[in-house]
Amino acid sequence: MSQLRVQPSHNLRGTVHVPGDKSISHRALLLAAMAQGTSRITGFLPSGDCRASLSCVRALGVAVDVESPTDITVISAGIRAPNQPLNCVRSGTTMRLLTGLLAGQPFDSTLTGDPQLLRRPMRRVVDPLREIGAEIDDTDGHAPLHIRGQSLRGGVLRLDVASAQVKSALLIAGLGADGPITVELPGPARDHTERILAAMGVRVEANGLAVTLYPIATPLPPLAIHVPGDLSSAAFPLVAAAIVPGSEVTVEGVGVNPTRTGLLEVLRDMGAHIEILDQHERSNEPVANIRIHSAGLRGTKICGDRVVRMIDEFPILAVAATQAEGRTIVRDAAELRVKETDRILTVVGELTKLGARIEPLPDGFVAEGPTRLHGGTVDSHGDHRLAMALAVAGLVAEDVVTIENAERINDSFPGFTQVMQVIGATCG
Ligand code: S3P
Repeated sequence: MSQLRVQPSHNLRGTVHVPGDKSISHRALLLAAMAQGTSRITGFLPSGDCRASLSCVRALGVAVDVESPTDITVISAGIRAPNQPLNCVRSGTTMRLLTGLLAGQPFDSTLTGDPQLLRRPMRRVVDPLREIGAEIDDTDGHAPLHIRGQSLRGGVLRLDVASAQVKSALLIAGLGADGPITVELPGPARDHTERILAAMGVRVEANGLAVTLYPIATPLPPLAIHVPGDLSSAAFPLVAAAIVPGSEVTVEGVGVNPTRTGLLEVLRDMGAHIEILDQHERSNEPVANIRIHSAGLRGTKICGDRVVRMIDEFPILAVAATQAEGRTIVRDAAELRVKETDRILTVVGELTKLGARIEPLPDGFVAEGPTRLHGGTVDSHGDHRLAMALAVAGLVAEDVVTIENAERINDSFPGFTQVMQVIGATCG
């Protein structure tokens, strides 16, 4: 699938599941690789990004038995030196988490990836690791990263970006440090790493926006974890149902960790009808079914801490904003500029091609609605979430929308087209 064609659609209805959470899948796999013994991961996300983590873990000498695309067994006796550079492909999470994991190992390693990943900033993870003794050569602030494994110290690290990837990298590095490590963030980044580590018996304590991890004296024990559905993937059918008249869609078994639910709050503020059903805990994460009905939306303002709690949802939020009455303003979201693409530029540029009234801001965008989008050809720019957001835009357009380079959707949401078809979208 390099082109995805989407027809205008009505009355989206049905109950669907989305694939496993990308952030949790990466973390479960990498921490299982660090453990001694046999770990079991069910609900694993078999996407391009997670496959990048999987092949890196194998290159580190860990056996991974893939019984079905979502059920994997990780058999580790600890990691060993890779005999080639580790290729993180397009996965920023793989690269940043591995930087922390490898910094304190008794061997050297190199991390590299596709040109898209080599453009993304890496000093944010390299600099704090250097403060605790890591020796890493970057390439002008980017990968390739050459890591000379060192013993690491404990310490207090203050970050100036609220990045969960960086926080996680530092916590993972801290497992083998000579004393506790405290990471202080400027905002509430997702806490999946802390939850998995706690389930593995590691002492990890949150105190406001700071988190302290105490190093472990013995190897990590193996892990048994079920990965919930990814709320960042569920966001696409959910927003589709919110904006396509006559719709009611339920997405079952989705992770609703409060560090991830900013979009649901924003959609409610915009007037969407959302029900959270059958909420329960599984593998130390809250999970629920989410039901949404279409409703007339109104514009809103999104800024401050909420931005971090929905950082991956701005491409699809922008589509919702084009259908909402009045103005939607996004501020404090300059991080969007360093995602898979500069998402302020690409989202504004591609939605403008469909007739949206949307303008970039240095740290966000402003959209005016409602707009009846027209058909046309748009480009994913190699960004999976942009491709899916444009597909949802196609459902409320007057004519067919064709998305070029749509194959990147598989980086996070294999089966996206099928899920949309199940709820009644005409696309393929
Ligand atoms: C992620 C954290 C976020 C998010 C990314 C996944 C993670 O990135 O955008 O898709 O798994 O920790 P940052 O840490 O750069 O904010």
